[in-house]
Formats: sequence, structure tokens, C-alpha cells
Amino acid sequence: MVTELGLGAMDTPHSPEAAATIEAALGAGINFIDTAREYEGSEFLLGQVLRARANADVYLASKTFRHTADGAQRDVDRSLSILGVERIALYQLHDISTPEAWAEVMAPDGALEGLQIAQYRGLIDHIGVSTHNTALAREIIMSDAFSSVMLEYSAFFTETAPLIDLAVEHDVGVIVMRPVGGSGRTSNMRRRLSEGYDGLLTPSNLLRYVLSNPGVTVAIPGARYPSRIAENVATATSLEPMDEATKRALAAEAAAHFYD
Ligand SMILES: NC(=O)c1ccc[n+]([C@@H]2O[C@H](COP(=O)([O-])OP(=O)(O)OC[C@H]3O[C@@H](n4cnc5c(N)ncnc54)[C@H](OP(=O)(O)O)[C@@H]3O)[C@@H](O)[C@H]2O)c1
Repeated sequence: MVTELGLGAMDTPHSPEAAATIEAALGAGINFIDTAREYEGSEFLLGQVLRARANADVYLASKTFRHTADGAQRDVDRSLSILGVERIALYQLHDISTPEAWAEVMAPDGALEGLQIAQYRGLIDHIGVSTHNTALAREIIMSDAFSSVMLEYSAFFTETAPLIDLAVEHDVGVIVMRPVGGSGRTSNMRRRLSEGYDGLLTPSNLLRYVLSNPGVTVAIPGARYPSRIAENVATATSLEPMDEATKRALAAEAAAHFYD
């Protein structure tokens, strides 16, 4: 069972506190970490930390950008060796956001077939997809070919809420990317907070918004610093589900301050 709070390790390597951030997540009991072949240094960082730590109890999720069966299988092999593990809990087709990409990965000899072979060989447990296209997300979920779908969802980006309900209906796990709005917005939020802003639009409330949706399997806020992990764990462990009126007020404020 994965914890509702995971870690998105896309940007974690770009920090002097990278290893400490991963350690902080594992130490706090976060047991789901998302990475990808394309996230520069991310699988390498995770491999380093995990090799130094015997028996880390963690579900790793990686991704391939390849659209062919051969390419996807090669990526699985590379991920396994860089992460230093014998199997990977979830391997995802990365950013399947155009009809062309979707047709390619689903075609005979496409990347889905490659991941199914890797699954048959016992190298990966589950197969998922990440997408930024809401229309395509519906098709992905309804294909019933995937264990999980990774969607953007937050008070800044509410339009995927119906897709989360659909995924629940189809027993597809929902991984929420960019749950606190992405690095541009959070750095603006931190600046406003340091200047005395005391309204609703905070990283903690944004995370509460996402975790209050019972259809979300795991939210994966990105972090480069252990202090973010500590704050997000505090939010998740003291979670009081956000009521609908507060959710609407937060989304309205997010829309009014829609900065990148
Ligand atoms: N599949 C895809 O196409 C795709 C695309 C985008 C993202 N993703 C996945 O989703 C994950 C998260 O996305 P993201 O990083 O773009 O967006 P995000 O999680 O919404 O935002 C990350 C930003 O929030 C900051 N932050 C996190 N917790 C905070 C807190 N408690 N207080 C203040 N600031 C906080 C981080 O700061 P610091 O970095 O300074 O610590 C970082 O700048 C990625 O790591 C990746 O795994 C996938």
C-alpha cells in the first residue's frame, strides 16, 4: 500500500541537499517516489541513496519516453541498473499527451507491449501512464490497460477532478503531479508568505486540497530540500479534509493569482 504522500524526485538532484531530501522522505515513512529516465540525475541519486540504505521500504516509479517496444525495454533495463534494484514497482509511459503518441505506444511493437514483456519477465510490477491531455486521459483510463494514471491536479488546475472519479470507477490508481502548482508558483507563494501574506493560498493548503480528494491514490509534491518534506509530512499526517466552501475559495484565489 502506498502512502498518500509521495515524493516527486524530478528536481531533487538539483540541490546541495538532494541526498538528505530523499533520506528525509524515507525516514518520514514516505514509501512512493516518482522518477523518470528523463529526469537528469534523478534515478542516479535514488540509486546512490538506496544502495547506502539496506532494505529501504519504498515503491519506485519510473518512466520511459520511448514509444517502441524495444526502446521501452531498454529503458527498463537502464533504470534497473541505475537504481540498483531487481524490480521496479511501477513503470510509466511518460507524457502521452498527443493522439499520435497514444497511437504509437498502443500499436503492435509499441511501448506498452515492451512494458508488458518487462512485466512478464518480472522486472516491473505495474504499468502506468502520465499525461497532460485531459481528453486523452479519459481514453487512457477507459482502455483498462493501465494500473495507474498520472494527472496534474490542484487548486490551480481543477479540470481533472472528473477524471479522478472516472479512474476510481475503473480501478485505476491516480498519481497527482504538480499538486502544489509547480516551482514557479510555489516560489512566488514563499515570497508572498515571507512578506506577511496570511491568506489561504499556501503550499500546505494546496496539498490539503489534493489530499482531501478520496480518489487520489498518491500526491507527489516535488522537493529539493528536507524542510519541504517535513512540512508536507506535517500537512499529510494532521490532515483535516478541506470542506467544499474552502476548496472553492482556494481555487478562486489560485485563479486570481495565476502566475508562473
Ligand atoms: N510526467 C510528467 O510529465 C510530469 C511533469 C511534471 C511533474 N511530474 C512529477 O510531479 C512531481 C511534482 O511536480 P513539480 O515539482 O513540477 O510541481 P509541484 O510538486 O507542484 O511543485 C514543486 C515545487 O514546490 C515546492 N514545494 C514543495 N513543498 C513545499 C512546501 N511545503 N513549501 C514550500 N514549497 C514547497 C518545491 O520547492 P523546492 O524544490 O525548492 O524544495 C518545488 O519548487 C515531479 O517531481 C515529477 O515527479 C511529472
